[in-house]
Amino acid sequence: MAVVHVLMSSSDQVPIGHRIIRLDSVDSTNNYAAKLLSSGELSHGSVIMADEQTAGRGQRGSSWTSGAGENLLLTIVLKPANLSVSEQFRLTQFASLGLIDLLAKYHLKGSIKWPNDIYVNDKKLSGMLIENQVSSTSVSTVLLGIGLNVNQTEFPGLAATSLQSELGMFIPVMELAMSLFFCLNERWKALDHRNFSELDNAYQKQLYLRDMPSLFSDETGPFTGTVIGTTEQGLLIIARENDEIRQYDLKEIQFMPRNDP
Ligand code: BTN
Repeated sequence: MAVVHVLMSSSDQVPIGHRIIRLDSVDSTNNYAAKLLSSGELSHGSVIMADEQTAGRGQRGSSWTSGAGENLLLTIVLKPANLSVSEQFRLTQFASLGLIDLLAKYHLKGSIKWPNDIYVNDKKLSGMLIENQVSSTSVSTVLLGIGLNVNQTEFPGLAATSLQSELGMFIPVMELAMSLFFCLNERWKALDHRNFSELDNAYQKQLYLRDMPSLFSDETGPFTGTVIGTTEQGLLIIARENDEIRQYDLKEIQFMPRNDP
């Protein structure tokens, strides 16, 4: 285990990435962070990074696989000063936008497949697993797990891509991580200052398939609809062909594939 300290903040809160714990291999960086947290060892902005995960976890109980040493696998500990449970979608917006900003630095146009998958050219480049701990009505600690495909170029059976596949060049993972921390620190300011409209406006603009009639599936079966935005709580708003407007929670709707692997 290597610990790297980076000093670089002008804000009153220590920056994301001020402490980095690097691991060769771990079951899941989110699990590792949760264990350290329970012994009180992780402050806001601490990062657990691993070259390899043996039991990487994805959203909704799925797994996250990644070639050893090829990709960015990390968990960031966040301690919002004043965020209520009803405002937790702002965390999704903050993190998604940090990743979009990172891609822009590499001249890539990413979009956010609701709620927080990052897509480039109709393929998934990054996913996140956000696990919140709450005390009473506030979010006390957030484990923001991010998996970002960097130098892996084969994704058998998956509509996935990587930075190397898109850019045609090797990207040093640690350098990328430093740029990511910079981008996240910038977006964190908006969250920390409760500038939610700034986050929301930017998030809505980056939504994947927004304003484009597309194929979805819900409990009634496949249908054509158009993403028109999200609610303040993070529900997806879709206009259906018959002009009915519906709001969906995570488990209630699926995007139908536009791009076979
Ligand atoms: C998804 O799209 O399903 C979310 C994937 C999240 C993967 C990352 S990799 C680092 C962190 N540790 C985990 O076990 N999962 C997240």
